[in-house]
Amino acid sequence: MLVLGIETTCDETAAAVVRVDAAGKGEILSNVVRSQIAEHAPYGGVVPEIAARAHVDIVDLVIEQALRQADIGVNDLDAVAAAGGPGLVGGVLIGLTTAKAIALIAGKPLIAVNHLEAHALTARLTDQVAFPYLLFLASGGHTQLLAVTGVGSYTKLGTTIDDAIGEAFDKVAKLLDLPYPGGPEVEQRAKDGDAKRFAFPRPLAGRPDPDFSLSGLKTAVRQEAERVLAERVLAGREAGLSDKDVADLCASFQMAVADMVADRCRVAIKLFRIRFGEPSALVVAGGVGANQTLKRVLQATADATGLRLVVPPPKLCTDNGAMIAWAGAERLALGLTDPLDIAPRARWPL
Ligand code: KG4
Ligand code: ZN
Repeated sequence: MLVLGIETTCDETAAAVVRVDAAGKGEILSNVVRSQIAEHAPYGGVVPEIAARAHVDIVDLVIEQALRQADIGVNDLDAVAAAGGPGLVGGVLIGLTTAKAIALIAGKPLIAVNHLEAHALTARLTDQVAFPYLLFLASGGHTQLLAVTGVGSYTKLGTTIDDAIGEAFDKVAKLLDLPYPGGPEVEQRAKDGDAKRFAFPRPLAGRPDPDFSLSGLKTAVRQEAERVLAERVLAGREAGLSDKDVADLCASFQMAVADMVADRCRVAIKLFRIRFGEPSALVVAGGVGANQTLKRVLQATADATGLRLVVPPPKLCTDNGAMIAWAGAERLALGLTDPLDIAPRARWPL
């Protein structure tokens, strides 16, 4: 089975071809991601109108490259999948409409994939994880702990009560004057930093529900940054945070997030075992999953609770077409295809 996947929900224009063998094992034949970072960087974040226009400009080329690298044509495909939401609706419209056109012309089934479901199922492509599993999904707009018991079968155990984790990384980067996108930048700066210099809070630690809270942590980073700056001014030294200050703030923030996630995952593992039995793995998905400190801390949590930790490679944690193609293949195998008049969705909870 060969499936084309198209992803245009945010600031990456991506297309990929995934092949699934008779045993249900997936193989990525191509995975083309064209990032719009350069277009959005001057504005410090994603500008929806610019994103939509950039998707229009490049989506055909990205799809063509994905098909060429996989050495196939549209007639070889078994289905065309595109992210149907949630996301910036202008971008979703472009990817989904392009998928419809290809499906119509080639006479192939269309699958409108939920972008979050695609993140959720990626570990089944990379590591053949079996149901049920505990999923920690953390992207720019979502932070959730989910029990994944089947394709389309997700039970929310916990979520954020304010900001998403990726959003918190992006906001902390912004307040430290680091370039967009913030997550990878904060991780990079944190490498030279002292994670113990600033004692940031671990919000909701020890609470019995595995929810998250990020806004207080973000405020604490701002307050500490302001305090350091004020000390500088009082001491009559040059204004501005030093590289060392920024590195220490990033490292301390990142460690606070990782500790919070580990604590919340421990609670979720207990809840999961009570409600769903033994999970086959603790799986991480979404852009924040690319963070190596988080991975290290969660590995310790998984070891202590006797679970296998599965974190797809960074390129498959951040937005890509392969995850859309794979989720499309999973749905196709169950006969779950969509009509050509399906509408793009800005909001689409799992
Ligand atoms: O899943 P994703 O690529 O796009 C969405 O669907 O939102 O996630 C993007 C988010 C951004 O907030 C970005 O800052 C964050 O994931 N992110 C990271 C890292 N790489 C991306 N956060 C922390 N560390 C990283 N290495
Ligand atoms: Zn995403």
